[in-house]
Amino acid sequence: MSGEALRIGVCGVGTVGLATIDILLLQSAMVSARAGKDLKVTHVGARRDHADHDYGDARVSRDVMDVARDPEVDVLVELIGGTGVAHDLIKLAIEQGKHIVTANKALIAEHGNELFALAEAAGVQLGFEASVAGGIPIIKALRESMAANEVKQVAGIINGTGNFILTEMSSKGRAFGDVLCEAQALGYAEADPTFDIDGTDAAHKLSILASLAFGIPLNIDGPVKQGIDTVTPTDLDYAAELGYRVKHLGIARQSKNGVELRVHPTLIPEHKQLATVDGVMNAVMISGSAVGEVVLAGPGAGGPATASSVCADIIEVARHSNGTGPAMGLPAAELNAKPLIPSGEIASEWYVRLSIVDRPGVMSHITKLLADRGISIESLVQKAPESGRSEVPIVLLTHMAAESVIIDAVEAIKAFGEVGTEFALLRVETFE
Ligand SMILES: NC(=O)c1ccc[n+]([C@@H]2O[C@H](COP(=O)([O-])OP(=O)(O)OC[C@H]3O[C@@H](n4cnc5c(N)ncnc54)[C@H](OP(=O)(O)O)[C@@H]3O)[C@@H](O)[C@H]2O)c1
Repeated sequence: MSGEALRIGVCGVGTVGLATIDILLLQSAMVSARAGKDLKVTHVGARRDHADHDYGDARVSRDVMDVARDPEVDVLVELIGGTGVAHDLIKLAIEQGKHIVTANKALIAEHGNELFALAEAAGVQLGFEASVAGGIPIIKALRESMAANEVKQVAGIINGTGNFILTEMSSKGRAFGDVLCEAQALGYAEADPTFDIDGTDAAHKLSILASLAFGIPLNIDGPVKQGIDTVTPTDLDYAAELGYRVKHLGIARQSKNGVELRVHPTLIPEHKQLATVDGVMNAVMISGSAVGEVVLAGPGAGGPATASSVCADIIEVARHSNGTGPAMGLPAAELNAKPLIPSGEIASEWYVRLSIVDRPGVMSHITKLLADRGISIESLVQKAPESGRSEVPIVLLTHMAAESVIIDAVEAIKAFGEVGTEFALLRVETFE
């Protein structure tokens, strides 16, 4: 093996940290050969004892800051998560001239602009491949493999927990809470699953993808956000009957008016590739000016899959310890903000579910309220009333309408006395 070993400090020995150490220890010969030098875990930062964990010959410290200060560490691997300790740790490690590898999307989305500038100034690398879509090499695909393309759109399923929950609910009719417990037991869900459920985790990842794709600074407050908790089993069933699947998508699109960033449950025609991505799998579709459409799919969460991306970044550091260029493809100072299109102006097709009193004239009044606002109906399905109820469920699919226009129509429909209070409104994306 040529040159000196690359000395690795791993901070945080949870799901991803342990899987990373396992690869580095158990596959040592393979990863070292590919890195071109020995990869050695020299220091582990773990705030408590884990009797069953093997760290090889590594020194163990309770205070992770000791790892950042250790002269025997060349690359600090942050696998703690969150934006508190992890932020201070990475800043200290950069100050100490260490390369950084992290899987922390919340930290990159919130503090990436600052951390990339610090890393550039210090001449160290900051790898974050594992921060989006776990094991899928999406960061390198966007930054390196598609560097010759103007990217128009990045859209995908970027939260494995959310996709696992929606898939189990729709294919097996399981309850939301029951599937969430299983996702936590399997190590898919974050320690606090709120961010998986309310769309925050997907919004963090979408900001990172949009920054890479469009050369804009990270903007954590940019994406419009709606979580999977707004999807009911009824809507999953109706969508399936109409030939659609409901997926939680992150969509970043660039047009002459600016950039739209949104994460929300979305109806997709069942024949589309994204509609067939189930369980904890993630998939990201990139539309490039030269290459056309590229879809990358794979495991978006789980220890070994995420550790695969973490170790790839470590190997990258070993291969190019003099630097591989800016983390976001452009120097931090050259990222240029573009106007964000407000959610009310973002147009799409819509799925609308409502219940009406089954009397002559009610349906024609509703279609008139839509037509008055320029919204045309693509299809309309009237269901049989549920037993014991007089109201009849109606499902409408509309043609394109801006969000503010469909919401105005829905408010007018709700104000009409013959309509029940239960409503659902979801975006439909056909990607044609
Ligand atoms: N799990 C996935 O599938 C996945 C996928 C992609 C990205 N990620 C990202 O990877 C990172 C790690 O996630 P994870 O799933 O591995 O989380 P995890 O299982 O909760 O592990 C986090 C570890 O950090 C430790 N820790 C927390 N505060 C610490 C401190 N102050 N000092 C030392 N150690 C501390 C915890 O210690 P204790 O054991 O004492 O609690 C735990 O071992 C996160 O940024 C996450 O977003 C995870």
